[in-house]
Amino acid sequence: MSWSLHLPHSAALHRSLTLKPANHRFATTACLNVDVRAPDSDRNTPLQEKRSSEIIADEKKFIVGTYARAPLVLTSGKGCKLYDVEGREYLDLTSGIAVNALGHGDSDWLRAVAHQAELLAHVSNIYYSVPQVELAKQLVASSFADRVFFCNSGTEANEAAIKFSRKFQRYSQPDKKDPPVEFIAFSNCFHGRTMGALALTSKEHYRTPFEPVMPGVTFVEYGNTQAAVELIQSGKIAAVFVEPIQGEGGVYSSTKEFLQALRTACDKAGCLLVFDEVQCGLGRTGYLWAHEAYGVYPDIMTLAKPLAGGLPIGAVLVTERVAAAINYGDHGSTFAGNPLVCSAGITVLDKISNPSFLASVTEKGQYFKDLLTSDLGRNSHVREIRGFGLIIGIELDVSASPLVEACQQSGLLVLTAGKGNVVRIVPPLIISKEELDEASEILKKCFPVLDQATKN
Ligand SMILES: Cc1ncc(COP(=O)(O)O)c(C=O)c1O
Repeated sequence: MSWSLHLPHSAALHRSLTLKPANHRFATTACLNVDVRAPDSDRNTPLQEKRSSEIIADEKKFIVGTYARAPLVLTSGKGCKLYDVEGREYLDLTSGIAVNALGHGDSDWLRAVAHQAELLAHVSNIYYSVPQVELAKQLVASSFADRVFFCNSGTEANEAAIKFSRKFQRYSQPDKKDPPVEFIAFSNCFHGRTMGALALTSKEHYRTPFEPVMPGVTFVEYGNTQAAVELIQSGKIAAVFVEPIQGEGGVYSSTKEFLQALRTACDKAGCLLVFDEVQCGLGRTGYLWAHEAYGVYPDIMTLAKPLAGGLPIGAVLVTERVAAAINYGDHGSTFAGNPLVCSAGITVLDKISNPSFLASVTEKGQYFKDLLTSDLGRNSHVREIRGFGLIIGIELDVSASPLVEACQQSGLLVLTAGKGNVVRIVPPLIISKEELDEASEILKKCFPVLDQATKN
């Protein structure tokens, strides 16, 4: 039995594979040098030439249904533009949910990745590698932190921060019988979907199907200083997890007073302050780190999304005090910080941390917020336009989905957030003012769809 898979740029793969028993179309037992072929009906259709409808039908058949996807099959991108399988162009104000900060196909990023892929893509963390150490050095040089732990995603970064916090408490109070092991997180927060990070995530419907999640998390209203401080003073809290700006939760910014009160209370109680900057960090706000906007510094910061410009990476930045509690074997990961992702990360960090790049994010963010306010601010469905830098939320009095769909049909990609009533805008940070003008125009043109949706 042999099939040939028509890959975009290459001939069919020749490799060993496993064949499934006779009545199964796909393989289970080893067999040498077999062409991995598509099922009969698909044989002569290269993947790139398949229509959206076919890919979508196959996805529904072969992929576990965890994503309610928009009916778009995207195949290529350049700058802030994405192209679907039928060749339609979209202006991308989602950047893969705040990932593609340099846009799609940035030439420096491409060069770094191609060069490193040729040299060495992966080695185990049982050995040293140059790009990992270099990226860590650069993260330390540009932040409050003294050391870095690498992982592969945002949820993993928070998972590591949970472990580090508990280990820190045990290490710093060796004689205490019950060192603090509990956590505080906030309303509308999102920290990830693995069991620890999920326990810290406020949306109940993400958590309840999988309970019991990690116990010992209390959710406090975001911005409620008094409630948070009282709980920190209980002496049970190992760490407080907070997003300086909440992305998924609906683009809510904290205040300097709130973060400063958490800092002071944590210092008094010996508890750690963790800033989750997975979405709002790395230049998105016009500051390299969102917390710089508030002048309050954490003990631990978690990063992920844009750090390697589209390759999977996570990072936990810690002070020396926290790092001192961590020993060999306390945590680890096979792929984490491999040479390929770290080379990409070095390029991304180098470009984003350039002061003129950050200044351009601030300027474009203010320009776009002003433009949206003048184009849409008086619409009866708009409750608030908020955020800063290039993380902007338009809160509506109705579901944002009809608007997001109408925009998509008009060639503009935006996201929802919060309870589904917030349009979330997180474009590549390299977006031009002309592209922002175009985006505002399309949004304005599509807004009447909300009137129709409310009538129905
Ligand atoms: C603030 C924040 N933390 C953590 C995560 C989880 O990141 P990942 O999806 O890479 O696991 C996200 C993802 O949206 C996020 O926005």
